[in-house]
Amino acid sequence: MSGSGEAMTAAWTALRGLPQHSLADLFAADAQRPQAMTRHIAWPAAPGGQSDAQAGMLIDFSKTHLGEDTLTAFEALADAAGFDAAREALFGGGIVNTTEGRAATHGALRGSGTPAAVEEAEALLARMGMLLEAIHEGALGEIKHCIAIGIGGSALGPALAIDALTRDLALVDVHVVSNIDGLALEAAFRACDPATTLIALASKTFTTTETMTNAASALKWLADNGVEDPGGRVIALTAAPEKAVEWGVDETRVLPFPESVGGRYSLFSSIGFPVALAVGMDEFAHMLAGAKAVDDHFRDTNARANAPLLAAFADQYYTRLKGCQTRAVFAYDERLKLLPDYLQQLEMESNGKSVTQGGAPVDGPTAAVTWGGVGTDAQHAVFQLLHQGTHLIPVDFIASIAPGDDLDPAHHRILLMNCLAQGAALMAGKTSDDPARAYPGDRPSTTFLVDDCDAAALGALIAFHEHRTFANAVLMGINPFDQFGVELGKAIAKQIESGEGDFDASTKALMAAAGLG
Ligand code: F6P
Repeated sequence: MSGSGEAMTAAWTALRGLPQHSLADLFAADAQRPQAMTRHIAWPAAPGGQSDAQAGMLIDFSKTHLGEDTLTAFEALADAAGFDAAREALFGGGIVNTTEGRAATHGALRGSGTPAAVEEAEALLARMGMLLEAIHEGALGEIKHCIAIGIGGSALGPALAIDALTRDLALVDVHVVSNIDGLALEAAFRACDPATTLIALASKTFTTTETMTNAASALKWLADNGVEDPGGRVIALTAAPEKAVEWGVDETRVLPFPESVGGRYSLFSSIGFPVALAVGMDEFAHMLAGAKAVDDHFRDTNARANAPLLAAFADQYYTRLKGCQTRAVFAYDERLKLLPDYLQQLEMESNGKSVTQGGAPVDGPTAAVTWGGVGTDAQHAVFQLLHQGTHLIPVDFIASIAPGDDLDPAHHRILLMNCLAQGAALMAGKTSDDPARAYPGDRPSTTFLVDDCDAAALGALIAFHEHRTFANAVLMGINPFDQFGVELGKAIAKQIESGEGDFDASTKALMAAAGLG
């Protein structure tokens, strides 16, 4: 999936040599800039939803510094990087994860992939639907609660989707538990009745220490609280079904997914089962439909018309040409308050790399640090730095045109007004005779407006960022689908446990202080 090294170097050299334009200059040069720099992606509206037959989102890139010359140069970079071929390989089941010799088939989960991969995904989805129905019909006894145990990609997506989509009422009360800190599992125990609780074990590898330890404690909790057959209340969501069976989960309650689906790309696989349990299979399908709409747009739209690619152009502009070390995401919607956490793993675990596909050192910074929060709360906490601090931080604002609440419409109006005001203020700045009261302005932002923050919109936002992450990786020539950087710490933790490591003096002293080893 890598392009020509020489052509990419030349394209980057051209980009670095371009004149810089202020946002004010870009707007002055083109009266149509807001229209020219806004992209739309549509999907079928939810039955009974707040929007009409067609729903979707707009993404306004006009407040970024991408101008005509920069866009043309980035298009040349995309060509040099072999973007079209890389995208074809992604959807066509090519080995895009070269270090692990695997395809990346998360698109197939929502119908975007080779016929064989889509057929396999549909069969697994049907199996998921059957188990869900059996649970609702009482096959595992009365189920009112679920403790969904998993970590990283096996937890962040379900946690986000359940939090976003169960504002009205959850069909089953699901608690996602990830941390090994027993306080997290104890909180779930307090909220659930063991007599009516299902345990969903989500782990791609079915070996992750945190998940397996939490799983054992959850089973013990069921047994200690009078559940006669605790194992009969467990289901497994995994790409290693044989390990789940070995661990003791009955084969009929193991929902597999393909090895070629990466952990942080797995929400739409059986890892999403707790979401379907909470919101129903129809809502889950609606989430898939939103993601599919973005897949179609990403696969079928070229160059600057392609919204995730355009977002990657902006990301590259700020990290590589302007030296920005972070990018911030603010959801002006309580339902998306876990989105920044989700995007953090997606972007930083994917593109936090130092070598190219070919193993050479990269020739510039890779992923920015993704961080963020929820508006308007963040305005009263961290926006001071965005407006007047010395860091240049590109910001994404995400909001829903339709309100999620039933209160006085003033709430939603004020929320939206604030969202738009922040982007305007960052760009415009303000002069003042008093330097402490002056704002430099010319600070970039991108605004996402979904018609309604429903399941489809969530699916669309997630797929958008998956493709944005992929596009960034292609432009940098790196592999977004491995994550070897997480292994060393895990290995050293095991050595600390066994006491058989060659530890540095600081770690030895800390081990002694903590009573370890
Ligand atoms: O340690 C990182 C990681 O491997 C992530 O990539 C993954 O999402 C998470 O751990 C959980 O892994 P698993 O689903 O195999 O338990």
